[in-house]
Amino acid sequence: MKKSLLALSVSIALLNISGIAQAKTDLTAATNISAGKTKSASCAGCHGEDGNSIMPLFPKLADQNEEYLIKQMQAFKDGTRTDATMSGMVAGLNLQDMQDIAAFYEKQKVTKNTLPPIESNDEGMTAEASSELSDAEALASAEEKAAANKQAAQEQQDALLALGYDVYRNGDLEREISACIACHGPNGEGNKPASFPSLQGQHADYLIKTLTDFKNNVRSNNPDNMMHMIAHKMSEEEIKAIAYYVSVMKGN
Ligand code: HEC
Ligand code: HEC
Repeated sequence: MKKSLLALSVSIALLNISGIAQAKTDLTAATNISAGKTKSASCAGCHGEDGNSIMPLFPKLADQNEEYLIKQMQAFKDGTRTDATMSGMVAGLNLQDMQDIAAFYEKQKVTKNTLPPIESNDEGMTAEASSELSDAEALASAEEKAAANKQAAQEQQDALLALGYDVYRNGDLEREISACIACHGPNGEGNKPASFPSLQGQHADYLIKTLTDFKNNVRSNNPDNMMHMIAHKMSEEEIKAIAYYVSVMKGN
């Protein structure tokens, strides 16, 4: 009886300790986030107040994995990832600042994108083909032409998104392009424990730029050059397709 009472009080004591520890971590996290909000003031002009940038070449940072963000800031600081603007921006940040800023951005909700307009691309037509077409065109009313152009653009966009979907989910085994879904998740949410970045809601133009940088070795700070190896095997068309697909991927 005495023994079990003792055991009970010990376990209550342990419970209390872990309760206190939990409260302490929550408190530290909250402190980090509010300090991070203050420290991110100088970033807001480009990345948006809540990490949702408006400009398509400034990446959104909202909802991004904390560890990934810290790693990128360190890479800009030590020069393993080069960008003239960003290396200047992080030069004055220490590790604590980076942790606070990253904690703040990770807690923000990322906004959804609409698809960038895709122009129909018929300028590749030969002179012969266009003179053949001109008879038919003469018959078609301007309205019909506009409708046909719109439909062609829509079809191109659908084809591009279908290609993006296919590469994202299935990769291309023969060409050794790993399926993105394996690391970046079914909804582009990334993988926090492995610190694989979230791609959800990211701007298509930034995704194209950064995948092209991986492809051309301009961005090469990633572990074991995983992304470099993958992007290297992707065509420009596939990069564009996947960027458009990912930028409007449905979240949970
Ligand atoms: C003048 C505009 C500008 C300002 C201000 C700015 N950034 Fe950036 N940031 C950029 C651009 C552009 C990139 C993309 C660089 C590239 O293409 O590799 C970027 C990239 C990043 C990335 C990498 C994101 C990713 O998905 O890989 C992080 C993290 C980041 N910035 C954090 C910050 C922080 C923190 C601050 C403030 C201390 C800041 N930035 C201020 C323009 C800016
Ligand atoms: C084996 C795991 C793995 C696979 C498969 C993978 N990625 Fe990645 N990806 C990563 C890692 C890790 C990073 C972070 C690299 C770094 O630290 O700079 C990354 C970074 C990225 C980034 C940069 C994100 C940003 O905010 O700047 C993009 C874009 C990206 N991956 C797209 C893709 C696409 C598209 C595919 C499929 C064709 C793919 N990834 C497949 C692991 C993977």
